[in-house]
Amino acid sequence: MTETTQSEAPVDNRPLDWMRRSTIEGFAALIVGGGSGMGAATARTFAANGGLVMVADLRSEHAERVAAEVVANGGKAIAIAMDVSNPQDIERAVKATVDAYGRLDVLINAATWSQNALLEDVDMADWANAFQTNVHGPLLLARACLPYLRKSPAPAIVHVASLAGVVGYARKSAYGPTKGALITLSRQMALEWAVDNIRVNVVIPGTIDSPLARKMIKPEVLADRQRTIPLGRLGFPSEMADLAVFLASPAASFITGQAINCCGGFSINSFVVPAGMTETLREVRQREASES
Ligand SMILES: NC(=O)c1ccc[n+]([C@@H]2O[C@H](COP(=O)([O-])OP(=O)(O)OC[C@H]3O[C@@H](n4cnc5c(N)ncnc54)[C@H](O)[C@@H]3O)[C@@H](O)[C@H]2O)c1
Repeated sequence: MTETTQSEAPVDNRPLDWMRRSTIEGFAALIVGGGSGMGAATARTFAANGGLVMVADLRSEHAERVAAEVVANGGKAIAIAMDVSNPQDIERAVKATVDAYGRLDVLINAATWSQNALLEDVDMADWANAFQTNVHGPLLLARACLPYLRKSPAPAIVHVASLAGVVGYARKSAYGPTKGALITLSRQMALEWAVDNIRVNVVIPGTIDSPLARKMIKPEVLADRQRTIPLGRLGFPSEMADLAVFLASPAASFITGQAINCCGGFSINSFVVPAGMTETLREVRQREASES
């Protein structure tokens, strides 16, 4: 019989008051796609908790507007124009972040290529652009950040994917396939970079009320979508930002390689109308309230 020697258990002295105390104070984050929607909300939340933010976006005026707003609210942020599908832009944005803050602890990537088109019609140049923006770019981006993340005391990467990359989404062209690839890519990053203590996670938004959602989904469909969301409403970009910033923070120190939904229950609601009923539970509640 082999004898086992008991090693001493490490002491768990992680701070308990993380909800009250910022754990990202002084950390620098490069937030790609930070000029609008969830990326902008993430920039605001990261900065509001004492983080240093580089807002990077294809549309420089949007990135600058978000950075100016953060600064006006007492936070630290600067902006840079960048196209995540362009390797030179990636190098420039990473360098500018490190030049400005002397460090890079967190990468959050919310930029996306999106299009509505049937697979039988999709233009293969669009298909290639989709993969360049949603998969190849994020890989090059993470690789460019890697030397700096390795020096951080608590490095983290958060990618924003979609339910379209988990289930199917008809007429979404290459969007779903690229988001699926981004989820798998993130898991591989998590495994390969765990030795450097770099955590890599994915957030999966349900329907979040952003400029993109309003552009891609028709208003009547958006209204109808709410019926399928158990919590009865679209999500706020700031709700996704809370999840992304949590995952990027030391509060999530043992979470890596995960794809986490923030969708008001939409992702588990295949049976929208409960068994034996003709209305949702929320509709019953509303009808009863209007009748009483
Ligand atoms: N809104 C939703 O309901 C929803 C649902 C599922 C997934 N998502 C995902 O959430 C993320 C954020 O979406 P959003 O709704 O906040 O969109 P948004 O359009 O409001 O913001 C996306 C930002 O990314 C920027 N961007 C686009 N292409 C870029 C590029 N090549 N390089 C750099 N920046 C680029 C845009 O200029 C924009 O500012 C996306 O990855 C999207 O796929 C959104």
